[in-house]
Amino acid sequence: MSQFQNIVVLTGAGISAESGIPTFRASDGLWENHHVEDVATPEGFAANPQLVHQFYNARREAAKSAQPNPAHIALADFETAFSGNYLLVTQNVDTLHERAGSKSLIHMHGQLEQMKCTKCEANWAFDGDSSIDDKCPHCNKQTTRPDIVWFGEMPYQMENIWAALDNCDLFVAIGTSGSVYPAAGFAQIAARKGAQCVELNLEPSNVAGDFTDGHYGLASDIVPRFFSKLL
Ligand code: APR
Repeated sequence: MSQFQNIVVLTGAGISAESGIPTFRASDGLWENHHVEDVATPEGFAANPQLVHQFYNARREAAKSAQPNPAHIALADFETAFSGNYLLVTQNVDTLHERAGSKSLIHMHGQLEQMKCTKCEANWAFDGDSSIDDKCPHCNKQTTRPDIVWFGEMPYQMENIWAALDNCDLFVAIGTSGSVYPAAGFAQIAARKGAQCVELNLEPSNVAGDFTDGHYGLASDIVPRFFSKLL
């Protein structure tokens, strides 16, 4: 039996890198040739909604053709075998965790395969190409947008995430640079409550000092190894 009973795992773009989905923070400061403020802010969407639809159509297409890698699969297998409380919080907007079999999962930054209405707040599953002409299936207005949490917006299910962090005895962050809050502050919160905090990443993140321990390398290698030892 594991020495831990309440585990929270946070994942970022690094866990999907080996599935062929590029991470965010390239040294040129651009995201797939676009300035982040043009494609990942409410202001960018207001200024050029068609560009933003096209941008996420391309991301959705790329994510749909990607496959879960051994790190996604190791987390899903661990969840099945573990008898304690387990919550996976991902900042990723792809569906690789659920396709690997993860069940207890929060997409705190939204999902590519979901749209929402800016007027009535409805959201719905969507896996095609969106445009400014699309109508909300609930209120019938041309007010649809990708269901992605942009800079300046509140991530999803924060109350549930804070509660799980307060109660966990192990917090593991995987493949995240620690540059975007609130997720970058999760280790500090968990550590304050006495949890052991472990970082699994290619390199020490910006918040590596908040963790008790770190293992550095490719997620496909270090994640299966770390979680197989936990059971
Ligand atoms: N295995 C493990 N870690 C990796 C790998 C890999 N194969 N490849 C890259 N990494 C690490 C990088 O070293 C980096 O520290 O993954 C991290 C990815 O960092 P970011 O690109 O900043 O992604 P993330 O932390 O998920 O970004 C957070 O920022 O743009 C917003 O909303 C967006 O959810 C995103 C948030």
